Amino acid sequence: MAKITIHKLKEMKEKGEKISMTTAYDYPTAYFVDKAGIEIILVGDSLAMTVLGHDSTVPVTMDEMLHHIRPVVKGAPNPLIVGDMPFGSYNISREQAITNANRLMKEGGCDVIKLEGGVEVADIVKAIVDSGTPVMGHIGLTPQTISKLGGFKVQGKGVEAAEALLKDALALEAAGAWGLIIEAVPEEVGKLITQKVSIPTIGIGGGRYCDGQVLVFHDMFGLFEKFIPKFTKQYANLGQEIVKGLETFKTEVKEKKFPQEANVFSGVKEEELKRLY
Ligand code: KIV
Ligand code: NA
Repeated sequence: MAKITIHKLKEMKEKGEKISMTTAYDYPTAYFVDKAGIEIILVGDSLAMTVLGHDSTVPVTMDEMLHHIRPVVKGAPNPLIVGDMPFGSYNISREQAITNANRLMKEGGCDVIKLEGGVEVADIVKAIVDSGTPVMGHIGLTPQTISKLGGFKVQGKGVEAAEALLKDALALEAAGAWGLIIEAVPEEVGKLITQKVSIPTIGIGGGRYCDGQVLVFHDMFGLFEKFIPKFTKQYANLGQEIVKGLETFKTEVKEKKFPQEANVFSGVKEEELKRLY
Protein backbone atom coordinates (compact mmCIF):
# COMPACT_ATOMS: atom_id res chain seq x y z
CA MET A 1 0.00 0.00 0.00
CA ALA A 2 1.33 3.43 -0.92
CA LYS A 3 1.20 6.24 1.65
CA ILE A 4 -2.38 7.51 1.86
CA THR A 5 -2.87 11.22 1.13
CA ILE A 6 -5.86 13.52 1.57
CA HIS A 7 -5.93 13.77 -2.22
CA LYS A 8 -6.36 9.98 -2.46
CA LEU A 9 -9.17 10.08 0.14
CA LYS A 10 -11.03 12.74 -1.84
CA GLU A 11 -10.69 10.54 -4.93
CA MET A 12 -12.12 7.62 -2.96
CA LYS A 13 -15.17 9.73 -2.05
CA GLU A 14 -15.65 10.71 -5.69
CA LYS A 15 -15.46 7.08 -6.83
CA GLY A 16 -17.74 5.88 -4.01
CA GLU A 17 -14.98 3.72 -2.48
CA LYS A 18 -15.53 3.48 1.28
CA ILE A 19 -12.79 4.63 3.65
CA SER A 20 -11.74 2.70 6.79
CA MET A 21 -10.28 4.38 9.87
CA THR A 22 -9.46 3.26 13.42
CA THR A 23 -7.63 4.66 16.38
CA ALA A 24 -4.15 3.59 17.54
CA TYR A 25 -2.25 4.90 20.53
CA ASP A 26 1.04 2.98 20.43
CA TYR A 27 3.60 1.28 18.19
CA PRO A 28 2.29 -2.32 18.13
CA THR A 29 -1.31 -1.27 17.45
CA ALA A 30 -0.21 1.10 14.69
CA TYR A 31 1.89 -1.69 13.18
CA PHE A 32 -1.10 -4.06 12.98
CA VAL A 33 -3.51 -1.39 11.70
CA ASP A 34 -1.02 -0.61 8.91
CA LYS A 35 -0.61 -4.33 8.17
CA ALA A 36 -4.41 -4.64 7.76
CA GLY A 37 -4.36 -1.88 5.14
CA ILE A 38 -6.66 0.54 7.02
CA GLU A 39 -6.46 3.94 5.25
CA ILE A 40 -6.52 6.34 8.23
CA ILE A 41 -5.23 6.12 11.80
CA LEU A 42 -6.51 8.54 14.39
CA VAL A 43 -4.40 9.08 17.48
CA GLY A 44 -7.56 10.20 19.24
CA ASP A 45 -7.90 11.99 22.52
CA SER A 46 -10.13 9.00 23.39
CA LEU A 47 -6.79 7.64 24.65
CA ALA A 48 -7.55 9.72 27.79
CA MET A 49 -10.23 7.13 28.58
CA THR A 50 -9.03 3.96 26.84
CA VAL A 51 -5.37 4.01 27.88
CA LEU A 52 -4.96 6.67 30.59
CA GLY A 53 -8.04 5.72 32.62
CA HIS A 54 -9.67 9.16 32.83
CA ASP A 55 -13.48 9.48 32.96
CA SER A 56 -13.58 11.85 29.97
CA THR A 57 -11.32 13.12 27.19
CA VAL A 58 -10.91 16.54 28.83
CA PRO A 59 -7.80 15.95 31.02
CA VAL A 60 -5.38 14.71 28.32
CA THR A 61 -2.54 17.19 27.62
CA MET A 62 -0.60 18.18 24.50
CA ASP A 63 2.51 16.44 25.86
CA GLU A 64 0.55 13.23 26.42
CA MET A 65 -0.90 13.39 22.88
CA LEU A 66 2.64 13.82 21.50
CA HIS A 67 3.87 10.90 23.58
CA HIS A 68 1.31 8.66 21.82
CA ILE A 69 1.51 10.15 18.31
CA ARG A 70 5.28 9.52 17.97
CA PRO A 71 5.22 5.72 18.29
CA VAL A 72 2.14 5.48 16.02
CA VAL A 73 3.97 7.38 13.28
CA LYS A 74 6.88 4.92 13.63
CA GLY A 75 4.64 1.85 13.51
CA ALA A 76 2.44 2.85 10.56
CA PRO A 77 4.23 4.33 7.53
CA ASN A 78 1.29 3.88 5.12
CA PRO A 79 -1.98 5.15 6.60
CA LEU A 80 -2.71 8.87 6.88
CA ILE A 81 -2.03 9.74 10.54
CA VAL A 82 -4.44 12.16 12.22
CA GLY A 83 -3.35 13.78 15.49
CA ASP A 84 -6.20 14.91 17.75
CA MET A 85 -6.01 18.40 19.30
CA PRO A 86 -6.91 17.93 23.00
CA PHE A 87 -9.38 20.06 24.96
CA GLY A 88 -7.92 23.46 25.81
CA SER A 89 -5.30 23.40 23.05
CA TYR A 90 -7.27 25.51 20.52
CA ASN A 91 -9.91 27.50 22.42
CA ILE A 92 -7.90 30.56 23.53
CA SER A 93 -6.68 32.22 20.34
CA ARG A 94 -5.70 31.53 16.75
CA GLU A 95 -2.03 31.81 17.74
CA GLN A 96 -2.49 29.21 20.46
CA ALA A 97 -4.30 26.89 18.04
CA ILE A 98 -1.62 27.26 15.34
CA THR A 99 1.19 26.81 17.90
CA ASN A 100 -0.34 23.56 19.13
CA ALA A 101 -1.15 22.29 15.62
CA ASN A 102 2.51 22.98 14.75
CA ARG A 103 3.62 20.94 17.77
CA LEU A 104 1.53 17.91 16.73
CA MET A 105 3.03 18.12 13.21
CA LYS A 106 6.66 18.92 14.11
CA GLU A 107 7.15 17.09 17.41
CA GLY A 108 4.59 14.33 16.82
CA GLY A 109 5.08 13.77 13.11
CA CYS A 110 1.43 13.25 12.20
CA ASP A 111 0.16 14.17 8.71
CA VAL A 112 -2.91 16.22 9.66
CA ILE A 113 -4.74 17.30 12.80
CA LYS A 114 -8.35 17.05 13.98
CA LEU A 115 -10.37 19.27 16.27
CA GLU A 116 -13.96 19.32 17.49
CA GLY A 117 -16.73 21.78 16.73
CA GLY A 118 -18.69 23.42 13.91
CA VAL A 119 -19.50 27.03 13.05
CA GLU A 120 -17.91 28.24 16.32
CA VAL A 121 -14.46 26.88 15.40
CA ALA A 122 -14.53 27.70 11.66
CA ASP A 123 -12.19 30.70 12.02
CA ILE A 124 -9.72 28.60 14.05
CA VAL A 125 -9.85 25.86 11.38
CA LYS A 126 -9.21 28.43 8.66
CA ALA A 127 -6.26 29.92 10.59
CA ILE A 128 -4.64 26.47 11.03
CA VAL A 129 -5.26 25.51 7.39
CA ASP A 130 -3.81 28.86 6.21
CA SER A 131 -0.75 28.23 8.41
CA GLY A 132 -0.09 25.05 6.43
CA THR A 133 -1.61 22.21 8.45
CA PRO A 134 -4.52 20.20 7.01
CA VAL A 135 -7.47 19.99 9.42
CA MET A 136 -10.16 17.37 9.87
CA GLY A 137 -13.38 18.52 11.55
CA HIS A 138 -15.49 16.59 14.07
CA ILE A 139 -19.19 17.35 14.50
CA GLY A 140 -22.27 15.80 16.10
CA LEU A 141 -21.39 14.25 19.42
CA THR A 142 -18.18 16.02 20.42
CA PRO A 143 -16.81 14.31 23.56
CA GLN A 144 -14.67 17.30 24.65
CA THR A 145 -17.81 19.38 25.24
CA ILE A 146 -19.90 16.54 26.63
CA SER A 147 -21.00 18.60 29.67
CA LYS A 148 -22.37 21.27 27.33
CA LEU A 149 -24.20 18.63 25.24
CA GLY A 150 -25.71 17.10 28.37
CA GLY A 151 -24.12 13.65 28.11
CA PHE A 152 -23.28 11.01 25.51
CA LYS A 153 -26.43 11.18 23.37
CA VAL A 154 -27.42 11.27 19.73
CA GLN A 155 -27.12 14.76 18.18
CA GLY A 156 -29.02 16.34 15.28
CA LYS A 157 -32.45 14.88 16.13
CA GLY A 158 -35.23 16.89 14.52
CA VAL A 159 -35.10 19.17 11.47
CA GLU A 160 -33.69 22.22 13.27
CA ALA A 161 -30.86 20.32 14.91
CA ALA A 162 -30.16 18.60 11.57
CA GLU A 163 -29.98 21.97 9.83
CA ALA A 164 -27.59 23.29 12.48
CA LEU A 165 -25.32 20.27 11.89
CA LEU A 166 -25.43 20.82 8.13
CA LYS A 167 -24.40 24.45 8.73
CA ASP A 168 -21.50 23.22 10.88
CA ALA A 169 -20.36 20.88 8.11
CA LEU A 170 -20.60 23.57 5.42
CA ALA A 171 -18.75 26.09 7.61
CA LEU A 172 -15.91 23.62 8.17
CA GLU A 173 -15.70 22.84 4.45
CA ALA A 174 -15.65 26.57 3.63
CA ALA A 175 -12.91 27.06 6.25
CA GLY A 176 -10.76 24.57 4.33
CA ALA A 177 -11.20 21.36 6.33
CA TRP A 178 -10.21 18.33 4.20
CA GLY A 179 -12.55 15.86 5.93
CA LEU A 180 -15.15 15.46 8.65
CA ILE A 181 -15.91 13.07 11.48
CA ILE A 182 -19.65 12.79 12.06
CA GLU A 183 -20.39 11.23 15.45
CA ALA A 184 -23.69 9.89 16.78
CA VAL A 185 -26.29 11.47 14.52
CA PRO A 186 -29.39 10.03 12.79
CA GLU A 187 -28.44 8.14 9.63
CA GLU A 188 -30.49 10.58 7.51
CA VAL A 189 -28.37 13.49 8.78
CA GLY A 190 -25.12 11.65 7.99
CA LYS A 191 -26.47 11.03 4.49
CA LEU A 192 -27.54 14.65 3.95
CA ILE A 193 -24.17 16.06 5.07
CA THR A 194 -22.23 13.51 3.01
CA GLN A 195 -24.13 14.60 -0.12
CA LYS A 196 -23.86 18.32 0.60
CA VAL A 197 -20.08 18.50 1.16
CA SER A 198 -17.38 17.56 -1.33
CA ILE A 199 -14.91 16.47 1.36
CA PRO A 200 -14.90 12.91 2.79
CA THR A 201 -17.20 12.25 5.76
CA ILE A 202 -16.22 9.53 8.21
CA GLY A 203 -18.99 8.32 10.47
CA ILE A 204 -18.91 6.89 13.97
CA GLY A 205 -22.56 6.30 14.62
CA GLY A 206 -23.14 8.50 11.57
CA GLY A 207 -24.99 5.84 9.57
CA ARG A 208 -24.32 3.81 6.45
CA TYR A 209 -24.11 6.66 3.93
CA CYS A 210 -20.95 8.37 5.20
CA ASP A 211 -17.92 8.09 2.91
CA GLY A 212 -16.11 6.04 5.54
CA GLN A 213 -16.37 4.57 9.02
CA VAL A 214 -14.20 4.96 12.11
CA LEU A 215 -14.20 2.87 15.28
CA VAL A 216 -12.15 3.13 18.45
CA PHE A 217 -9.67 0.23 18.48
CA HIS A 218 -10.32 -0.64 22.13
CA ASP A 219 -14.08 -0.93 21.44
CA MET A 220 -13.46 -3.14 18.39
CA PHE A 221 -11.37 -5.63 20.33
CA GLY A 222 -13.01 -5.82 23.74
CA LEU A 223 -10.28 -3.82 25.47
CA PHE A 224 -12.52 -1.21 27.08
CA GLU A 225 -15.42 -2.42 29.20
CA LYS A 226 -16.51 0.78 31.00
CA PHE A 227 -19.19 1.51 28.44
CA ILE A 228 -20.04 0.17 25.01
CA PRO A 229 -21.78 2.61 22.63
CA LYS A 230 -24.55 1.30 20.33
CA PHE A 231 -22.63 2.43 17.24
CA THR A 232 -19.61 0.25 17.87
CA LYS A 233 -18.98 -3.36 16.86
CA GLN A 234 -16.73 -5.88 18.53
CA TYR A 235 -14.62 -7.82 15.99
CA ALA A 236 -12.80 -9.94 18.57
CA ASN A 237 -12.69 -10.11 22.33
CA LEU A 238 -9.00 -9.74 23.06
CA GLY A 239 -9.74 -8.60 26.62
CA GLN A 240 -11.28 -12.02 27.31
CA GLU A 241 -8.38 -13.80 25.57
CA ILE A 242 -5.87 -11.85 27.65
CA VAL A 243 -7.59 -12.74 30.95
CA LYS A 244 -7.72 -16.43 29.89
CA GLY A 245 -4.01 -16.37 29.04
CA LEU A 246 -3.10 -14.70 32.32
CA GLU A 247 -5.16 -17.20 34.34
CA THR A 248 -3.43 -20.09 32.57
CA PHE A 249 -0.03 -18.51 33.24
CA LYS A 250 -0.89 -18.07 36.92
CA THR A 251 -2.02 -21.69 37.24
CA GLU A 252 1.09 -22.98 35.46
CA VAL A 253 3.35 -20.97 37.77
CA LYS A 254 1.55 -22.23 40.89
CA GLU A 255 1.56 -25.84 39.61
CA LYS A 256 5.20 -25.58 38.46
CA LYS A 257 4.25 -26.28 34.85
CA PHE A 258 5.99 -23.12 33.66
CA PRO A 259 8.82 -22.70 32.89
CA GLN A 260 9.75 -26.01 31.23
CA GLU A 261 13.09 -27.24 29.98
CA ALA A 262 12.61 -25.37 26.70
CA ASN A 263 12.38 -22.07 28.58
CA VAL A 264 15.49 -22.31 30.79
CA PHE A 265 19.25 -21.80 30.31
CA SER A 266 22.10 -24.17 31.09
CA GLY A 267 25.86 -23.50 31.28
CA VAL A 268 27.19 -25.09 34.39
CA LYS A 269 26.79 -28.58 35.88
CA GLU A 270 24.81 -28.95 39.10
CA GLU A 271 27.56 -31.12 40.74
CA GLU A 272 30.18 -28.45 40.05
CA LEU A 273 28.09 -25.98 42.06
CA LYS A 274 27.79 -28.34 45.03
CA ARG A 275 30.54 -26.71 47.10
CA LEU A 276 28.82 -23.36 46.73
CA TYR A 277 25.65 -24.53 48.46
O1 KIV B 1 -10.67 10.41 19.94
C1 KIV B 1 -11.29 9.62 19.19
O2 KIV B 1 -11.14 8.39 19.24
C2 KIV B 1 -12.24 10.20 18.23
C3 KIV B 1 -13.11 9.26 17.47
C4 KIV B 1 -14.30 8.93 18.31
C5 KIV B 1 -13.48 9.79 16.15
O3 KIV B 1 -12.29 11.40 18.10
NA1 NA C 1 -11.29 12.62 19.71
